[in-house]
Amino acid sequence: MGAKDRFQTRAIHIGNEPDKETGAVAPPIHLTSTFQQEAVGEDKGFDYARGGNPTRKRLEDNLAALESGDHGLAFASGMAATTTLFQTLSAGDHAIIGHNVYGGTYRMSVKVLSNHGIDFEFVDTRSIELVRSAIRPNTKMIFVETPTNPLLELCDIERTSEICKDHDILLAVDNTFMSPYGQNPLSLGADVVMHSATKFIGGHSDLLAGALVTSDPALAEKLYFIQKSGGAVPSPFDCWLMLRSTKTMELRVQRQSDNAMEIAKRLERSDIVESVIYPGLKSHDQHDLALRQQTDPDGRPIFGSMLSLRCGTIERRDEFLSRLRLFTLAESLGGVESLICVPYEMTHVAVPDETKESMGLTKDLVRLSIGIEHVEDLYEDIVSALGE
Ligand SMILES: Cc1ncc(COP(=O)(O)O)c(C=O)c1O
Repeated sequence: MGAKDRFQTRAIHIGNEPDKETGAVAPPIHLTSTFQQEAVGEDKGFDYARGGNPTRKRLEDNLAALESGDHGLAFASGMAATTTLFQTLSAGDHAIIGHNVYGGTYRMSVKVLSNHGIDFEFVDTRSIELVRSAIRPNTKMIFVETPTNPLLELCDIERTSEICKDHDILLAVDNTFMSPYGQNPLSLGADVVMHSATKFIGGHSDLLAGALVTSDPALAEKLYFIQKSGGAVPSPFDCWLMLRSTKTMELRVQRQSDNAMEIAKRLERSDIVESVIYPGLKSHDQHDLALRQQTDPDGRPIFGSMLSLRCGTIERRDEFLSRLRLFTLAESLGGVESLICVPYEMTHVAVPDETKESMGLTKDLVRLSIGIEHVEDLYEDIVSALGE
């Protein structure tokens, strides 16, 4: 059992080995904050739970295996993971960030870490030329989301990683929207992958967590040092829930993505919304890149479960939201149940209005996270809520 096994086998077995002491097939949850030492400094690999816990270790091994990396680190939230990553930078460093990243990433960089002397610059990372021209002698990191939230813009990870290698810059990819099942940035040249594990890794809208995975031992050591120093770690119970959830990741994410593709195609044909944004549609500007970059573990293209719709007006948007029966109005995504949100007022409220408008994040835009319900029920719900 190991790295040579296929994704689904790794998801089930790595980190889930039977308990050595009792033979329990499902891993135990180690609800302990501290660990006995046989003598001073002699422990069994764990001393205090901020630094490590056996249930967390199992999850971290599982996450590393899913992203085909060597080192996994679990956090109390996606933002704790991103903050840890940004804390590897020092005052005076410059970092390039995708202009359409999650609102919380914007808030942490601009409103918190800028005050500590790190210079963050927002760039449209769809364009390799814009990325290249933003590089300065003190640029240390490029942090991208692909696809972005909620406009589903893509960044070419492979080409961006070539630029990073030429300039000795670290490439970090927020892979939350695709999950480790639909995209593996490390194999495309990224140095580190970040996840809001609250989403597809948790998969059931019942926990908050984050993850970082890398194959660079020096970076892993730095990240571990910050993780242990800051202590933004998930509880053993949440680690166990995630270990349980990643076993069904393939089944969930594939179904969610199949449902989203079907709904996107039908909505585009129907003309009942102004426009449909989904990387699986030929009308998406970067469909060719999606075909190449977003693939399941067997290399087949996969487009994810997130799609955005422009309703035309705020009145039509609100009427649509009030009439939906199966989609719950809520932030977050990636769970088995379908959700809908208005990014302008919800997930991206921290981003200034002019910035949102300049990139096309308008008030009439709604973002759907498609679940694993029956696709016909979901489609009927959307169509009847739109009044057709
Ligand atoms: C793409 C993306 N990155 C990061 C985050 C932050 O993760 P968390 O809410 O787990 O802190 C989110 C949350 O919605 C997200 O959508």
